[in-house]
Amino acid sequence: MDMEAKETELQPSEDKKKTISVIGLGVVGLTTAVGFALKGHKVIGIDIDEEKVRQVNKRICPIYEPGLVKAIENVEITATTDHGAALKSDISFICGGTPSRSDGSIDLFYIDTPARQLAEVLKAKKDRHLVVVRSTIVPGTTEGVIVPLFRNSGEVAICANPEFLREGTAIEDFLAPDRIVIGENDRAAGDILCKLYDNGFKSPIYRTDIKTAEMIKYASNAFLATRVSFINEIGNICKELGIDVYKVARGMGYDKRIGSEYLSAGIGFGGFCLPKDIAALIAKSREIGHRARILEEVSNLNKKQPVRLLKLLKKHVPSLKNKTIGVLGLAFKPGTDDVRSSKAIEIIQALLDEGARVVAYDPRAIANFMRLFPSEIEFASPEKVLAADAILILTEWDEFNSLDYRSKIVIDGRMIAKAKEARIYEGICW
Ligand code: UGA
Repeated sequence: MDMEAKETELQPSEDKKKTISVIGLGVVGLTTAVGFALKGHKVIGIDIDEEKVRQVNKRICPIYEPGLVKAIENVEITATTDHGAALKSDISFICGGTPSRSDGSIDLFYIDTPARQLAEVLKAKKDRHLVVVRSTIVPGTTEGVIVPLFRNSGEVAICANPEFLREGTAIEDFLAPDRIVIGENDRAAGDILCKLYDNGFKSPIYRTDIKTAEMIKYASNAFLATRVSFINEIGNICKELGIDVYKVARGMGYDKRIGSEYLSAGIGFGGFCLPKDIAALIAKSREIGHRARILEEVSNLNKKQPVRLLKLLKKHVPSLKNKTIGVLGLAFKPGTDDVRSSKAIEIIQALLDEGARVVAYDPRAIANFMRLFPSEIEFASPEKVLAADAILILTEWDEFNSLDYRSKIVIDGRMIAKAKEARIYEGICW
């Protein structure tokens, strides 16, 4: 896609250009920063990580995110570790991550800390400033935790603007989102954000109160997770009945009320978002005395899916001790180098616990996976992985569709059609 050409056509006029500071330059922050810069706004990126700041200033994308790598080369962004730089902006987006605590609830450290710093900085600001919370935080957090931090910061208005970016297609999702959700408790503040998106974005804008906006994000991710666990459940039944669940999903998808997205059965959902967001919603429900039974089951089923894969493996290789098991795919999904909550982690750990030797390949995620398993497994070429006693497919990278599986034992967790040619082939749900 010639993104820049397309974006230039849609740029706002000079008088509508804003200076935007983006605090936290992870996938969400960096995409937000580059996205608004592509739209012609002046962007200041703020992060405590000096190396990241240095890379952004050199127009090097510090993360593997295909669209961003090219887009960052041609946009005007200044990055700094100094939160004081936010003073020069009209709008600040808070984009810190919200990891899970051990009880599933969210850890607000990466939101609370920059918000406090920003609140301090904005004490010196004379004009009105808009603070936008872009991070995923459970309903009530913006008003209960963030707003009070800015009480002494002059004329600050606060909005929520949850992101719906997928890793791997983050910049495309930013530039053409299915919807833009603006949470506002102050109409004038919402108007500022609305104007920012009115310029050059063609997506529907949905304005609501802050708590509702926060919940829309959780409900959306929980629903996507539910669809995945739902189709995995159907797939588990299909497997017993000798039915291919992918054909079933296809047949279901023709129904407009159902649609065909998020119906790919497999070893379950991973990544930084779906698992932790569902855990946070379960924890928040518990806190208010409600048991979120559907969500609990979605999560339980997701935890059990990898166990099914291992059972299928053992059907063909009953003892794993001293056997070499090849693993194709380590990233939590294709198109990313991210291994956070990747199903490969628990599957490989289980293989090692049973005394297997593991040889693994991934086109992008080896470096990140090596940090988790520095010496326990061997990382090798796909050909070497295919020489193992049995092979597990854990990520549906396209290139796995051009390997030669003919004489192999393959247990497929992600539906790689070519692997069906294997001497022994088992799909997890088909
Ligand atoms: C998810 C949401 O899709 C985004 O809308 C949201 O903005 C983001 O979380 C976030 O909260 O920041 P992402 O984590 O990039 O995005 O991952 P997805 O593409 O949704 O995939 C999640 C997991 O579900 C992956 O492990 C994927 O393999 C699995 N999946 C997805 C399936 O097993 N089957 C499917 O049909 C779809």
